[in-house]
Amino acid sequence: MDSDWYRGQVIFLTGATGNLGGCLLYKLSLKLPTSKIFVLVRGSIRQAVEKWEHFMPEQVDDILDTGKVNFMVGDMTQPDLALSATDLELLKQEVTVVINSAGDISLHQSLSETILPNCTAHLTLTTILAGFTRLQCFLQISTTYVNSFLPDGSIEERIYPLHPNPIVELDTIIATGKSAATDQFAAPYALAKHLAERLILDGGHAFPILIVRPSFIAPAIQDPYPLYGRDGATPAHSFIHLILGNRNHGLLQLEETLPTHPICDEIPVDLVAIVCLAHLAQGTTGIVHAAADLYATWTCGEMGNRFHRHIPREVKEDAQKIEFQQSHSLAPYFFQMIQRFWRDWKIDCARSSHLKQLKGPLGLDLGDHDPEAFLKRRVERQSKLAHSWLKRGALPFENGSLYSRHLNE
Ligand SMILES: NC(=O)c1ccc[n+]([C@@H]2O[C@H](COP(=O)([O-])OP(=O)(O)OC[C@H]3O[C@@H](n4cnc5c(N)ncnc54)[C@H](OP(=O)(O)O)[C@@H]3O)[C@@H](O)[C@H]2O)c1
Repeated sequence: MDSDWYRGQVIFLTGATGNLGGCLLYKLSLKLPTSKIFVLVRGSIRQAVEKWEHFMPEQVDDILDTGKVNFMVGDMTQPDLALSATDLELLKQEVTVVINSAGDISLHQSLSETILPNCTAHLTLTTILAGFTRLQCFLQISTTYVNSFLPDGSIEERIYPLHPNPIVELDTIIATGKSAATDQFAAPYALAKHLAERLILDGGHAFPILIVRPSFIAPAIQDPYPLYGRDGATPAHSFIHLILGNRNHGLLQLEETLPTHPICDEIPVDLVAIVCLAHLAQGTTGIVHAAADLYATWTCGEMGNRFHRHIPREVKEDAQKIEFQQSHSLAPYFFQMIQRFWRDWKIDCARSSHLKQLKGPLGLDLGDHDPEAFLKRRVERQSKLAHSWLKRGALPFENGSLYSRHLNE
């Protein structure tokens, strides 16, 4: 895979202040010879820089010092992304690749709330792209959970159509806020993203389209630094924090009810970024998965055993002494969601298997990286965090929003 493909490329990156977007920005600016990166940020440039200072404190200056990053203040949910006419014209004239990593990953939002940031906003973006004169590819970040409605088994890198006419389905949702398919999805977010995939691919666009579907995103193994990742955008951490200490819907009950043999499908965020960037350079179109098969395929039972083994003894002892009363009120909702939609899926990643033999910024050959040792570091770090929260008598997610951008992380 040739990193040199990025020389001369001008990227428009949305979601750059987010978990995956931040990692993509790091790699595009510091690991690849990209010419220029336009980033769409909400609020102000200052707010965007503050977010990076929080999540990538050691890296943010290096990223900005490359001189590659150009800010555009806007909002995906507004007409023309709320860009100024000058900014929009600049994008139309210069951009060669668009990476859409923006989204609202709150899982408890209603369908009427989530459909705008996770479906119609993406359609607005693709409509604007018709005027991008140098565009070579559009990359949409999706999720493997767009297929929540599928039963156990192999999930291929393709569309599984649910609605005979997705345009009619979207119109119905916009008009009524409801869909007959809601219960078939783990969360309304997943239904919105399912429709976005279908409508983007069916949109009759002239530019090539790549859709990458990550499974649950885990902390980075290397880039921007080991264990990088917002807990609010790392589902395993979010779920654990949310149900921690709940008497009836806690970790213990979850372990007892979930089957142990399905794969616990997670992939580190920097490997997701590699999959995205490698397939762009390769000219891939259509659907590509970024899932455990490209990293480590532990079953839920194996993962649970490792968590037990690596949680420090003093944390376990203290946890038993603490009177848990502060568990989140949404715990039963998410507990039941996990129970209902935990699938014995084999998420096929065949389109990226060749990357496992490649080293460098676009390769998944991880050299002497040891997933076992890395998981141990991760569990120990999360245990310490959870321990300090429990001792303070306060859990995160107190504002009622799993995956909120405004968590006490
Ligand atoms: N986290 C996972 O486990 C996971 C798994 C599979 C797929 N994905 C997908 O990966 C992509 C990135 O998610 P993430 O995990 O990186 O989430 P994240 O950390 O919450 O990042 C979301 C990004 O989207 C931006 N954004 C949200 N609404 C916007 C709007 N209206 N206009 C402009 N920007 C907006 C946010 O900007 P602000 O900083 O202004 O809020 C932030 O930069 C999403 O498409 C998500 O569906 C995530």
